[in-house]
Amino acid sequence: MNEAASLAGKKILLIVSGGIAAYKALELVRQLRAEGVVVHAVITRAGEKFISALSLQALTENPVSTDLFSLDAESRMGHIELSRAADLLVVAPASADLLAKMAAGLADDLASTLLLATDKRVLVAPAMNVRMWLHPATVANLALLASRGVAVVGPDEGPMACNEYGPGRLAEPPAIVAAIRSMLASGLASGPLAGRHALVTSGPTHEPIDPVRYIANRSSGRQGHAIAAALAALGARVTLVSGPVALPDPPGVSVRRVETAAEMLAACLAALPADIAICAAAVADWRVADITGHKIKKEPGAAPPSLTLVPNPDILATLSAPGPARPRLVIGFAAETDDLKENAEAKRRRKGCDWIVANDVAAGSGIMGGEENEVLLVSEAGVETWPRLPKAEVARRLALRIAEALGA
Ligand code: CTP
Repeated sequence: MNEAASLAGKKILLIVSGGIAAYKALELVRQLRAEGVVVHAVITRAGEKFISALSLQALTENPVSTDLFSLDAESRMGHIELSRAADLLVVAPASADLLAKMAAGLADDLASTLLLATDKRVLVAPAMNVRMWLHPATVANLALLASRGVAVVGPDEGPMACNEYGPGRLAEPPAIVAAIRSMLASGLASGPLAGRHALVTSGPTHEPIDPVRYIANRSSGRQGHAIAAALAALGARVTLVSGPVALPDPPGVSVRRVETAAEMLAACLAALPADIAICAAAVADWRVADITGHKIKKEPGAAPPSLTLVPNPDILATLSAPGPARPRLVIGFAAETDDLKENAEAKRRRKGCDWIVANDVAAGSGIMGGEENEVLLVSEAGVETWPRLPKAEVARRLALRIAEALGA
């Protein structure tokens, strides 16, 4: 998506915070400069422990700011001006500390002040120790930032400088450039969905049985993720609430990762208000009533354990319920094995949503987990049959239809 969009002449304000990955910011600048991007860089005090302002200055060919109270910088270009003149703010690497400051709205140094003062979109590329990344404080900060429209790229998973393994490595510069390209190509100022906020759910949910087992389904998240990307490409600000999937985050989209249906509902409600909600996730209909805190063991001679299931909240029905927070357009999916059209129409009425995208998931259709989809679009106006198409194309057409409906 948008792979070929030119970045030449775009202005990026790059904020480099502290961390061993700061050296990769230099390569990022090199790649951006090679594409004709004008880069202004700001480095935090912690960032300067890892790379020098001088290196950044040499590569950006622009003065590098470090100090909030620099008279020199104020006389050349006010700090606020620095964050307003850019097309996009990119924080790479974004340390746990700077993300926490952003979430709290602190402004005690130049980097955090610029981030608080900006009226532009912000992309963060987190990099930190795996335990810091997984700490509930960081998870909560990221969720808050994502709900405010901050886009996130990475982190990657792999061996870390601290001899640990896991998520926390800075995304590679080409991935950061791809995210920048996508955000600028789908910038708020352009596209038929510019200024709209779209909420998309995607993937399966995992409902725990005990600490090691869970109930899941075969959803890959491909269709939901493709829809999030297609909406972003038309200029929407997109919040993607995703269950566990093996897919990369779509560039330029704020992703909230969840496991259970209850977490998915909470993340969706936290992301409101939205103009559009698309529930493409295959939410587990039931969860286990009593999740044991210990692994269920096989007892010799004993009967297999029986699980009592209780219904999960219905996210689509909740978002569709009339009220001031209801998105203007709510779209659900229906996965059916029989009587596709009738079941989808009934589902649309039952859930209270505006449109249903219905697909046949009968064994042998190859749809669930596959690359293609064959759908019916069911609305009050009637039923449309779409041909079998790659999931990205289904997403693109759906995004265009949404833009049309909201423009009307
Ligand atoms: N959905 C949801 N929350 C749930 C269950 C489903 O948001 N707890 C959404 C899905 O994201 C999808 C639609 O509702 O948009 C599917 O409805 P569902 O009733 O689960 O239908 P199917 O999965 O198609 O199957 P069933 O025939 O069991 O109703």
